[in-house]
Amino acid sequence: MMQKKEIFLQDYKAPSYSVLSLNLEFEITNDFTQVTSKAKYQKLNSHSESLRLDGLNLELKEIKLNGKTLADSDYQLAQLSLTIFSPPQEFELEIITLTDPAKNHSGEGLYQSGEILCTQCEAEGFRRITYFMDRPDVMTKYTTKIIADKKCFPVLLSNGNKIDHGDLDNGKHFVVWEDPFKKPCYLFALVAGDLALEKGLFTTRSRRDVQLEVYVDPGNEDKCQHAIESLKKSMKWDEDTFGLEYDLDIYMIVAVDSFNMGAMENKGLNIFNSAYVLAKKETATDDDYMGIEAVIGHEYFHNWTGNRVTCRDWFQLTLKEGLTVFRDQEFSSDMLSRSVKRIEDVIGLKNHQFVEDAGPLSHPIKPKSFVEINNFYTSTIYEKGAEVIRMIHTLLGQENFRKGMDLYFERFDGMAVTTEDFVASMSEASGINLEQFKAWYDQNGTPLVKVETDFNIETKTFTVNFVQESKMNNDQYAGLQIPLKYTLYDTKGEALGACELFILDKKKQTFTLQNMAKEPVLSINENFSAPVDIEQSLKFEDKVLLAKYCKDYYSRYNAIQNVFNEEIKSLTKMYHDGNELKVGHEVKSVFKHLLQDTVDL
Ligand code: BES
Ligand code: ZN
Repeated sequence: MMQKKEIFLQDYKAPSYSVLSLNLEFEITNDFTQVTSKAKYQKLNSHSESLRLDGLNLELKEIKLNGKTLADSDYQLAQLSLTIFSPPQEFELEIITLTDPAKNHSGEGLYQSGEILCTQCEAEGFRRITYFMDRPDVMTKYTTKIIADKKCFPVLLSNGNKIDHGDLDNGKHFVVWEDPFKKPCYLFALVAGDLALEKGLFTTRSRRDVQLEVYVDPGNEDKCQHAIESLKKSMKWDEDTFGLEYDLDIYMIVAVDSFNMGAMENKGLNIFNSAYVLAKKETATDDDYMGIEAVIGHEYFHNWTGNRVTCRDWFQLTLKEGLTVFRDQEFSSDMLSRSVKRIEDVIGLKNHQFVEDAGPLSHPIKPKSFVEINNFYTSTIYEKGAEVIRMIHTLLGQENFRKGMDLYFERFDGMAVTTEDFVASMSEASGINLEQFKAWYDQNGTPLVKVETDFNIETKTFTVNFVQESKMNNDQYAGLQIPLKYTLYDTKGEALGACELFILDKKKQTFTLQNMAKEPVLSINENFSAPVDIEQSLKFEDKVLLAKYCKDYYSRYNAIQNVFNEEIKSLTKMYHDGNELKVGHEVKSVFKHLLQDTVDL
């Protein structure tokens, strides 16, 4: 095993070659698959740099430059690379390699899952298929021809539109796919096998028909309907919410049993773990149905946030994953209950991301270095990343956020970009300065916000003192910009005005309200508007009040947890003191109130 090197964001260098087109041919046989790759390369600067291609576990058969077989001295083959010495300014490189999908147990590249062959290329799996610049900032147009035995592999799929197919000698057949959109190689996909097909149709708002195709193991045809309906809802939602239309004539989803991840957003050809596709009411729970809708949505939304606009390098992973998780959360909120979804997401964040961020694996949503990129598909990159996008949404408001998204696509369609590019689009489109906000991308650890309130009866002034600090690295902690939604309540539980936004942007900050007749109760960080820990000493009766009356259901949920936690503590004390256990009347009153309350979820 070779020791992997640590890679640093600050060492990023743009590629010195671009790939004008890539033509792939796969010939599948019983023991191995032969891959012929023809790529047109162009030097981007006049330095006579050699061309270094990534490759792993490949058997090199042939290599030709502009049609001529290369001499041994023209290239160097190493364990992880193939280097072509001083190539011309522009040239075509043809490489023939062999790979054995049945023996590939890495879960990356081309591998066998049951009886079918499929690929997984994110993050760095394409190098197991052919020699190529396996990095997301190399984008090109792909044409893929697949040749295989017609009986064993009647279905042959790849990205884009099917442009040709036909029969060959010896019981073989072929299919040619063309993807008109430039993409990085991590979005390449191929599936070959005996699969059953369930179809659907979606007409886009500009009246284009898109064929929806779900491929499953024969026998599972009756469990595809929910996936198809979820896909249609996702397509409609992205049109309505972000004005984003699907761009190919066909959208395929393949369900495979041995897929490592939940699902993968390959262009026009998503590959799913069958657990996130198959459902029928006799066997699936409500949770299964909701999970399928969310994952189908997530992978669909990547078509714009990830595929059309992709990541410059893997340090930018949250650019596509954080944003797409935010989008799938919003989708689920609109399809189901916004409040329930928010409560579930915050529980998930606190149980996973907060724990990760408080321990030895704590890292910023934009890491500064990594050894193995596969270990960076973390709750921090995904869930905290989505919270950071949500905070931008809160700071800008829905209308400006939409303008920011529009500008992002207008500027960067077909490109591989950075999180700074995204934030700049948001800032420029809205006219809101996000300079200080950027620190959320670089700083790890969950911030702690201490909240102390004071009421002066004489001056009728309500004062809130905030201190923000890090539990991790307090010395270098930069004060973050923290959007805190809040509502004030009177002692009867009436809201004193609407939910407002306070932007905490200093390490210590005071905020005062004049002309308050009585001391109000402060409900802070409503809807969990910032992914921070709040330390606030509320009286028990105030917690009870918030548990009953908070208009924001996340805050209501949170207050109920606080009340119950305190009650459990006092019951424990009663037990230790040898007293009879008695549930307090406040807790009973919370229960009673909640049971009688009509909530609109
Ligand atoms: N791009 C990822 C799939 C992926 C994950 C590829 C890790 C390579 C390494 C995909 O969009 C994704 O995030 N899938 C999630 C499910 C999603 C609903 C959060 C997964 O597979 O868990
Ligand atoms: Zn994703």
